[in-house]
Amino acid sequence: MTVTLVPPPAPLPARIAPASSRPLDVLGVPGQTNLDHAASAPCARAAADAVAELLPWYASVHRGAGALSRRCTLAYERARQTVGDFFGARPGDHVIFTRNTTDALNLLARALPAGTTVVTFAGEHHANLLPWPRGSVRLPVPASPGEAVRALDAALMELRRDAPPGAAGISRSAGPPVLVAVTGASNVTGERWPVAELAAVARRHAARIAVDAAQLAPHAPVDVAALGVDYLAVSGHKLYAPFGAGVLLGRGDWLDAAPPYLAGGGATSHVGDATHQVRWAAGPARHEAGTPNLLGAVALAAVCAALADADRDALHAREQALLARLRQGLAALPHVVELRTFGPDAPRVGIVSFVVAGRDSGEAAAELAARHDVGVRDGLFCAHPLARRLLAEAAARSGRTDLPPTALRASLGLGSTARDVDRLLAALAELG
Ligand SMILES: Cc1ncc(COP(=O)(O)O)c(C=O)c1O
Repeated sequence: MTVTLVPPPAPLPARIAPASSRPLDVLGVPGQTNLDHAASAPCARAAADAVAELLPWYASVHRGAGALSRRCTLAYERARQTVGDFFGARPGDHVIFTRNTTDALNLLARALPAGTTVVTFAGEHHANLLPWPRGSVRLPVPASPGEAVRALDAALMELRRDAPPGAAGISRSAGPPVLVAVTGASNVTGERWPVAELAAVARRHAARIAVDAAQLAPHAPVDVAALGVDYLAVSGHKLYAPFGAGVLLGRGDWLDAAPPYLAGGGATSHVGDATHQVRWAAGPARHEAGTPNLLGAVALAAVCAALADADRDALHAREQALLARLRQGLAALPHVVELRTFGPDAPRVGIVSFVVAGRDSGEAAAELAARHDVGVRDGLFCAHPLARRLLAEAAARSGRTDLPPTALRASLGLGSTARDVDRLLAALAELG
């Protein structure tokens, strides 16, 4: 058998390529309506192209002296820089590649200084509820963004009650560390959380804040410096880069002082002969032991670069128009009830959860797929406390006694069209 080196780059099969090839076009299969972007978004052309371009060079990262290796190492570190710039990283911030948002938040949980109290809201995705240490404070789901800000203020006031006031009310060094962990946008309702206001409250009480931007980043610009956020977690596969990289970005001090998230090659600067003789690296390498996901990082960076070049206002306006069409269409269906935490007019990204009265959500989703080629998500969306509460509220608000115990979720993004929305609405009308 002969082994040949394939010249770069192989064209993608025409069947899955979009008609045009702008960087933010997404790949898909004609005839299939994918309204499940919030789970995993389709692949952007920018990501596919970046991966195809690099694949012929594919080799080790940080480990080889060969030309291929050096190019891959450079591509990986450039990806880190691009992603950091895209999210507004400050000097002293680390950009650590992880597998996804769940991994990023677990890493942060392991890096917390001893005695840190974490404050979250009960409306979070499990990824931002479960990693935090015992003794964390879980605030009730607020009824409005304003209530979230007031509730956090009151909770932090209580936590800091015994701390001596510093120069500006309370100084950074006052009391044990506190981390506030909130979502940027809910994966159940799409509602946006008042991140900048919550960050200001955290700062006032000498607390740090981590934002789970898994659902916000694909829809809106996120800049940690502008928002006053200390840590940010995102998933590449929700950001049109389906190669399994995520990011934890944020303040370097806690991360450099923490034990490595994974122990192994790449995370050390020196390993002696005795078992305890290990000097761990500082910087992102400390938490990135093992061979990294080069293609994931490069794909994610390519999407970040494409989004940085795009007219985000225009993308936002387009998505909001589709979202309004979807929500108005749902409201016109008498057997459909929308789930929401805040008021009906609260700012949202392109995500809507709802129930079809009298229909099991799993069966409804299966029917939408089988009969209409429409893909949506069903269940409690890995946010069980919130979803259960919103289902109960939807029953109370609508006065219906035949709502199912789980919900459906439609989510929009790049590549979604009015035709997709109308197809879902027509299919739902038939379910009634
Ligand atoms: C708000 C939010 N946070 C975190 C996650 C976890 O993301 P991942 O599964 O990519 O780790 C999700 C996934 O749906 C999410 O919607």
